[in-house]
Amino acid sequence: MKIATILGTRPEIIKMAPIIDEISKRDINQVVIHTGQHYDKEMSDDFFRDLEIPTPDYNIHVGSGTHGKQTGLMMKGIEEVLLEEKPDIVLVQGDTNAVLAGALVASKLHIAIGHVEAGLRSFDMTMPEELNRRVADVATTMYFIPTEQSAINLLAEGFSHKNLFITGNTVVDACFRHLEIAKKRGFENEALAGLDIDNLDNILTLTMHRAENVDVKERVVNIIGALKELSDMNIIFPIHPRTKNTLENFGLFDELNDLEHVHIIKPLGYLDFLLLTSKSTLILTDSGGLQEEAITLDVPALTLRYNTERPETVTAGGNILVGSDKEAILENARGILSDNEFADKMKNAVNPYGQGDSAKLTVDAIEDYYNKGLLNIEAPEDIMDSFTRKMASINEDITVSEFEESKNALIHMIFDGDKMRFPFGDLNLNGMMITYDEK
Ligand code: UD1
Ligand code: UDP
Repeated sequence: MKIATILGTRPEIIKMAPIIDEISKRDINQVVIHTGQHYDKEMSDDFFRDLEIPTPDYNIHVGSGTHGKQTGLMMKGIEEVLLEEKPDIVLVQGDTNAVLAGALVASKLHIAIGHVEAGLRSFDMTMPEELNRRVADVATTMYFIPTEQSAINLLAEGFSHKNLFITGNTVVDACFRHLEIAKKRGFENEALAGLDIDNLDNILTLTMHRAENVDVKERVVNIIGALKELSDMNIIFPIHPRTKNTLENFGLFDELNDLEHVHIIKPLGYLDFLLLTSKSTLILTDSGGLQEEAITLDVPALTLRYNTERPETVTAGGNILVGSDKEAILENARGILSDNEFADKMKNAVNPYGQGDSAKLTVDAIEDYYNKGLLNIEAPEDIMDSFTRKMASINEDITVSEFEESKNALIHMIFDGDKMRFPFGDLNLNGMMITYDEK
């Protein structure tokens, strides 16, 4: 079997590293394709070093640009590699332009696609990421889904539960493994060493890069307004290159950098950043990955967004959406700093993203599909004989597996009162309403 993995930005490198590592331990050929969307040393090379994975086999060097140009160049480059390498499955991760480009190209070549971190939805179609993840899911063969909530999003869009694998998120694998390494090694970054981080209290780690925040002056001004007033915190801000550019263009960089309690530094390597996160009193962020890492490391998070495709972090109690609302940022940050009960409740939120075995579960599922011939994408030869989806109210003790076997059917949706459920094989359907297809 041959697996091609596509990645292109910092979070994709981090979250695919455990899977690349897992594949390399097995009797599987692998090809890693870097789109080159992130290219600065601090946004790319440093992560291959920190996560101890080999340099990619291919780099398409798309660089920065408009979405159309970037995605188009990626499609051209990825197609050339896939035609040459002929993998059995292509893996894409998350919601960047690489996911869109990789999924479109692979599906047109009739190559199976595995979408790692599938099923997330913010329901905000102005986000480029929401479009990318939705389009990729239309083309995907195997869905590797972090939580039951995300799986239900896919069921609601009509995808068969047979191809949905709830694996947790590989960010937990990366986090657990590398935090230990980071703790043994200590901080290496010079800027952090200069700040004597080990002896600082009240650390607020800030990251932001999302277009809908950093490209809108009013939102940046509101957020900076809150940062100014949080002078009892030590704010560490490893700045994303996009954000550095826009702060400079808005003429706001110096104003923020001049504040004594705000330390703007270059983007950090993964080990330094994990260690910093683990020592933080609170995280202020619009990052997707950081919402997950914060709850994994028991650090309260305030998310600078009005919606999130990670609602589990909010319902678990570890994350609060504050938008770019100055008062909401201040009130919640001060609550975490001064109200122990409030802070402890956030810290004790249960991590919904699994135990750190997500890469293993993912590669196990791929091997199983490969061995059963299910990665071959072929046109159907059975004449379609079922034209309607059926509904039923179940009033007997019968599990999902028993129902599907006895009726030769596939269940789509399950309503348990006003709650939707995932069709786990051993779920007893008694008292529930279902929709299903007879095969
Ligand atoms: C991209 C992803 C986003 C992800 C983020 C992770 C898309 C649509 N966006 O956003 O989902 O959360 O990566 O960080 O795929 N730049 C550099 N050096 C680099 C990379 C970027 O200077 O190595 C600057 C360039 O000015 C570029 C800007 O940052 O125009 C934005 O980079 P881009 O990759 O287009 O989007 P991100 O905001 O990084
Ligand atoms: N990260 C890092 N150094 C930094 C900032 C973030 O290593 O200076 C890591 C962080 O641990 C997380 C990931 O980058 O795993 C998040 O990436 P980003 O916020 O760029 O993208 P998103 O997750 O929002 O797509």
